[in-house]
Amino acid sequence: MELKKVISKCAETRDSFYLYDEKGILESVENLKSNFPETEFLYSIKCNPDPRVIRCVFGEGFGADAASAGEVRLAHEAGLPSEKIFYSAPGKSDNDIEETITSSVIIADSIDEIGRVQAAAEKRGMIINIGIRIDPDFTFDSDKGRPSKFGIDEEQAIEFAQNCHYSNIKITGIHVHLKSQELSADVLASYYKKMFRLAEKFEKICGGLEYVNMGSGIGVNYAENEEPLNISSLASDFRSEFERFRSSYPDTKVMIETGRYAVCRSGYYVTKVMDRKVSRGKTYVLLKNTLNAFMRPSLAELVRHYSGESSPAGTEPLFTSEDAFQFLTLKEGVPEETVTLAGNLCTAADVFAADIRMPKLERGDIVIVTNAGSYAAALSPMQFSSQEKPEELFLTKDGKLQ
Ligand SMILES: Cc1ncc(COP(=O)(O)O)c(C=O)c1O
Repeated sequence: MELKKVISKCAETRDSFYLYDEKGILESVENLKSNFPETEFLYSIKCNPDPRVIRCVFGEGFGADAASAGEVRLAHEAGLPSEKIFYSAPGKSDNDIEETITSSVIIADSIDEIGRVQAAAEKRGMIINIGIRIDPDFTFDSDKGRPSKFGIDEEQAIEFAQNCHYSNIKITGIHVHLKSQELSADVLASYYKKMFRLAEKFEKICGGLEYVNMGSGIGVNYAENEEPLNISSLASDFRSEFERFRSSYPDTKVMIETGRYAVCRSGYYVTKVMDRKVSRGKTYVLLKNTLNAFMRPSLAELVRHYSGESSPAGTEPLFTSEDAFQFLTLKEGVPEETVTLAGNLCTAADVFAADIRMPKLERGDIVIVTNAGSYAAALSPMQFSSQEKPEELFLTKDGKLQ
């Protein structure tokens, strides 16, 4: 069934819902796999932990980038073995370590955490392979590192690895993630190049690595006028660096993480007009479950009001750009008007889009918000105001609704 018909059908009995389209997810995943055949991919569960979505992605051979003990559990429930679940997050508790030490590959985020994993392994009389997250002495656009709450500074990590006397842990991998949502193939390619040089250093210090996890960075074109990332050009630059690295280290797996690229564009948030009013000359269309159910469009409006910049740095995944979401309707053949799409919450910050052109909407009409597959349901304050949560629906590749 065509997507528009599915949305209309689902809206007959629901005022707001998410729809995830398996076909679209599979296309994105296939695009990555075919361009990077030598790479292993990890799906970043945090962006959309819906069990049907993660099963779909894992079914294509992806491992898991888990950001909590809860996500390690979700990955297991979806059928992944422990060695394909990489648990990387700052500030892990002792309970987090105890729970995941044998059910995932722990990526230690600090030197203190390495000590705590050592203690947990010693208590069990085991030798545990761990990865370490590194804050390298470079960024995407500079050859100098910067302070970060994530990982261990490269210089400290080198010194630690050279002098490590712990007998119950072995450092067998490195992980770096510096930035999300990069759309320049050249910038990403230069980052991968620096990553291969970093990996070579740790290969030597650690006496061989099992894996190098390059993190994410692969971006999605959100706004209609945005040029998509040129994946094939990126892949060809990546391949030449990879071949060079592999000639020296043939047994080291190279991994890339991705959340949004796999799922962002295959998710839709659908809501309905509850009311409309004209107040002192301004037309408001009031929708069901907005800020509370899909926070990012409302945050974009807030950023527009309070920030002088159109792309303030370091705000992913809360804020991408002002025009990252399109507001569509199935209404055809009616005149357009300028409206403000607001929600049904008791806060004036609950604005999805201010002063946009839309076909004239009446009570009961459908509004579809795009790019709702990642950081949407998972990143919204659904408890606020005790509203009914929108259902998350999954359209299988065979057209069945789950
Ligand atoms: C460590 C790590 N890896 C991967 C991702 C996923 O990023 P994206 O959804 O942009 O692919 C994130 C996002 O916050 C992250 O923190």
